[in-house]
Amino acid sequence: APAKKPKRFRFFRFLWRLTYFSAIGGTAYLAYGVYDQKHPDDQFEPDPTKKNLVILGTGWGAVSLLKKLDTENYNVIVISPRNYFLFTPLLPSCTTGTVEHRSIMEPIRSILRHKKAAVKYYEAEATKIDPERKVIAIDDNSDIKGASNKTEVSYDMLVVSVGAENATFGIPGVKEHSCFLKEIGDAQQIRKKIMDCVETATFKDQSPEEVARLLHMVVVGGGPTGVEFAGELQDFFDEDIKKWVPEISDKFKVTLIEALPNVLPMFSKQLIDYTEATFKEEKITIMTKTAVKKVTDKTVEAEATGPDGKKTIQIMPYGLLVWATGNAVRPIVRDLMSQIPAQKDSRRGLAVNEYLVVQGTKDIWATGDCAVAGYAPTAQVASQEGAFLARLFNTMAKSEAIEHQIHDLSSSLNLQPGNTADIAKEIEAHEKQLRRIKDIKPFHYTHQGSLAYIGSERAVADVSWLNGNFATGGGLTYLFWRSAYLSMCFSTRNRVLVVLDWLKSKAFGRDVSRE
Ligand code: FAD
Ligand code: NAI
Repeated sequence: APAKKPKRFRFFRFLWRLTYFSAIGGTAYLAYGVYDQKHPDDQFEPDPTKKNLVILGTGWGAVSLLKKLDTENYNVIVISPRNYFLFTPLLPSCTTGTVEHRSIMEPIRSILRHKKAAVKYYEAEATKIDPERKVIAIDDNSDIKGASNKTEVSYDMLVVSVGAENATFGIPGVKEHSCFLKEIGDAQQIRKKIMDCVETATFKDQSPEEVARLLHMVVVGGGPTGVEFAGELQDFFDEDIKKWVPEISDKFKVTLIEALPNVLPMFSKQLIDYTEATFKEEKITIMTKTAVKKVTDKTVEAEATGPDGKKTIQIMPYGLLVWATGNAVRPIVRDLMSQIPAQKDSRRGLAVNEYLVVQGTKDIWATGDCAVAGYAPTAQVASQEGAFLARLFNTMAKSEAIEHQIHDLSSSLNLQPGNTADIAKEIEAHEKQLRRIKDIKPFHYTHQGSLAYIGSERAVADVSWLNGNFATGGGLTYLFWRSAYLSMCFSTRNRVLVVLDWLKSKAFGRDVSRE
């Protein structure tokens, strides 16, 4: 009999086979993704006799609903001024060119073209919802306008998924002088401004005070947006700008201002401490218990509370100011709330019930950042809510179809008296199926954890695992952060482009040209 191979050898053989089959599986998956993206099947025409289901928005909530919705059951119309889905978790990486902006955009046309039945899309902003007449006023406010650019769309069912806008709390000067970080345009503007500050700081005969001001990058808001951006910015400086513009290497400064006693309040204490220690190492200044009260074109005025409770005013000159202090309600949502008496006590958005129906209405649903369902305004929540609504609407359509069948069978009982027993049996079976379908459980959010990049190839993660919580930070967490976000990207195309961007910026450095 042949001699048995040693255990160690068998282990390596197993490892080799695992790698080999994973590589084949991965390549096949990739090839299928590429093929599928380019070759959508023919679509059914929308059926105008079906109910009009109007979806406002093309963000996390709306797209997750569209992904799982059986569009052949409804006459689906999508309205949004943005004709693409944006993968927001990688938006801070676009401000420095670690990832290129088009890599995290997925055209809504491609998403809709992959549905079984065609979906109408109007690139427009919804400006008013009239729940009495069940119509939405829409406005094409893009640069190119046709003869018709303002009109109305009627709905039988409406999903409001318009997200939120940037909170400024009415602080003077914020709107006029800050950059925000919510949309692709914001990231592009920041990228341009960083390099503009650097180039202007090295302009001939610039005074030392002006150089210090131009190279002072201030981030307001120590939530995950502010923290991730500050980390990306410092990386950009340490890994690239410093190399190409060495004369400013000791003058570039990033300051993060937060009104609360610590940054990242939604993370566990240990990760907050880790983030603050990492920032210290990276030479990012954190100013906690400091609330910005006023902004001018060149300065930020903040009120700092000392350990003794004493308040002092600090005026800081800046070159770039990024404002990341969370969400505010969009005007269209505020207007809808003002028309519904049941919404009068809601402040942060449309109060919804456990089926995400807007309180005080019966045919309007809301998801994501514009809905108040008792969860944080995150992509995780919005996408789970969107997927829940898809299941709900698919089930509603199925149960309506069965109700029609039961109705038809009941009518035929009178017309075919000889067949009564068979028909009654069929009705009973349908009713059983209907009961099963109608047993839809309310929306339940499953928190999978929080992740944030903090610079220097480190990340923090509070992950829910086996009914417990697992907090971790560092280089390995960074690899986990990258793989988690990569797997969450919308399409194979996005995934491939993001990986190529990461490789490109690692190999050649980020591009410091100002577009
Ligand atoms: P959005 O995704 O904002 O989509 C709103 C849509 O509505 C857009 O298509 C918009 O164009 C459209 N719209 C706006 N006004 C109108 C109108 N009047 N009529 C019609 N359409 C309209 N969450 C996480 O869970 N993990 C993360 O890592 C994470 N990272 C983030 C990073 C950044 C920089 C930011 C800004 C947010 C991040 N978030 C993250 C939060 C997450 O992006 C939001 O919670 C999520 O986008 C909310 O989804 P939504 O569908 O409600 O809104
Ligand atoms: P946020 O609401 O989480 O944080 C804003 C911060 O700004 C708060 O800590 C607040 O105290 C501070 N602030 C407000 N006014 C201020 C002032 N005048 N001066 C100084 N500080 C002030 O907002 P953010 O980071 O934009 O996030 C919005 C939502 O998106 C959150 O729900 C967040 O969880 C989610 N998000 C998640 C990410 C992730 O999971 N990695 C990344 C980015 C956003």
